[in-house]
Amino acid sequence: MGELLSTRVRGISPSATEQTSALANRMRRKGIDVLSFAQGEPDFDTPDNIKQVAIKAIREGFTKYTDVPGIPALLQAVQTKLKRANGVEYDMSEIVVNNGGKQALYEVFQALCEPGDVVLIPTPGYVSYVEQIKLTGAEPVYVPSREEDGFKLTVDQVKTAWTPAVKLFVMNSPCNPTGAMYTADELRAIAEFLVSKGVTLIADEVYENFVYDGGKSVCLASLSPEIKAHTVIVNSLSKTYAMTGWRVGYAAGPKDIISAVINLQGHVSGNINSIAQKAAIEALLGPQDSVLKMLAEFARRREYMYSRICAMPQLSCVKPEGAFYMFVNVKKIFGKSYDGVTIATDIDAAKFFIEKGHVAVVPGAAFGCPGYVRLVFAKSMDMIREGMDRMEKALKAL
Ligand SMILES: Cc1ncc(COP(=O)(O)O)c(C=O)c1O
Repeated sequence: MGELLSTRVRGISPSATEQTSALANRMRRKGIDVLSFAQGEPDFDTPDNIKQVAIKAIREGFTKYTDVPGIPALLQAVQTKLKRANGVEYDMSEIVVNNGGKQALYEVFQALCEPGDVVLIPTPGYVSYVEQIKLTGAEPVYVPSREEDGFKLTVDQVKTAWTPAVKLFVMNSPCNPTGAMYTADELRAIAEFLVSKGVTLIADEVYENFVYDGGKSVCLASLSPEIKAHTVIVNSLSKTYAMTGWRVGYAAGPKDIISAVINLQGHVSGNINSIAQKAAIEALLGPQDSVLKMLAEFARRREYMYSRICAMPQLSCVKPEGAFYMFVNVKKIFGKSYDGVTIATDIDAAKFFIEKGHVAVVPGAAFGCPGYVRLVFAKSMDMIREGMDRMEKALKAL
């Protein structure tokens, strides 16, 4: 089999998040009641106004190919959203709609990277960056942030990591998996340095709407015209509108980059689903109360999960400012044993929680940061309560 497959795909590591979810599903099929805190998606349903528009689109036969970058009305909706919510102006030719933020990222990396290039990825960071970058032949290089800095890189750390081979830098604020969020000043300092070195910035802003305690996320491209000229924004409707299954994301940036992405997408998927495009217009321009409702609920769950984790002496966690993840330090249980097995890594710790607590969590190693596990708090309050009880009980027995 090894010889049949390309070296390219043989180099890809499977997604740890999806692997953990699959393990939880396998255990469930055996009749074990596993609670999974692995998959990063809201437990809310897509708001009804959005669904109704999609149903209407089907009824009206809006079921054919569309323009590859997206129908003009959707590109205009994205343009309006970027202006209203982020204070940045883009021409329609500088926007492309993709099958989720994931495809947007993939195509932007494909459009920009090649062997010999280096892409800097702050860690802990989203699992797909590294694999997608590897597929371009470029070298992904981790830039570790420190827990004591709230998992945020300082400009000095970025300066130290920079070399002339660096082509791209991926900024994800609020961050998956830590929930860390950079201030405008922190972002500006990092961006100005990188722009002065001719580095292009990828601003993955898919969690921009999930920010707690009255905070506000900053759109990187809004910081200055010069930074905007070197930035590609990647965003998605998946998390904001509980539309993970619809597959709608977008990228906005300099026209030459977006044109290349459109050209590539024309041969990969063509347009995204026509019905989802209609729904996306409603999501972006229709009532936004569902987003606020979800945010208020996630805020409540964040407080609860955080307080429960802090009450377990073996665990600790930096309180997330945004997104819907807790990145929990599990190093205190290293060296402890159960059923004759010694826990030595975060992968062992995740195994311990699923085997002894029937709670699925993702090991930090998957995010380039061993010693931690990630839990999603976009789950029902009942599930969080039960999950925390189970983890606490399993830890007490260690
Ligand atoms: C940081 C980050 N970027 C991008 C994505 C891609 O999301 P989607 O493809 O559903 O839009 C995710 C999904 O988990 C994410 O966490």
